[in-house]
Amino acid sequence: MIALGSDHGGFALKEEIKAYLAEQGIEVRDFGSFSPQAVDYADIAYPLAKAVAAGECTKGILCCGTGIGISIAANKVKGIRAACCSDCFSAKLTRQHNDANILCMGGRVVGAGLALMMTDLFLNTEFEGGRHQTRIDKIAEIERKQ
Ligand code: RB5
Repeated sequence: MIALGSDHGGFALKEEIKAYLAEQGIEVRDFGSFSPQAVDYADIAYPLAKAVAAGECTKGILCCGTGIGISIAANKVKGIRAACCSDCFSAKLTRQHNDANILCMGGRVVGAGLALMMTDLFLNTEFEGGRHQTRIDKIAEIERKQ
């Protein structure tokens, strides 16, 4: 189950991604928004990030205008590694090296074609573990110290 969410700035892109995943028979849980009306991205990021952190959804995709605000909000939830990406290399590497569990993109930054390629890479690339696990463990240690 893939979690999807956006504010108004990422709404159209989120809808494109939702249709693309549905075409492939991938189950999605849509956390909104459900219209282009203005909403605050933290109100969408928080419940979605909690669902991913709890394992209710395997991964998440969040879109706002830039992808930045919604990624900052999602990263406040313990266990979340949300990566704001606007190129395919980063979308792939953030899975291999960071074990990112949420991909964030900007609806005012990337077009749908690029966003769907990044979505494919993010959903289909495995974490490499090894030395990268050690680094992720240190991020978790920072969370524990808060
Ligand atoms: C909303 O206007 C915009 O600020 C938001 O979508 C996002 O870009 C914030 O980082």
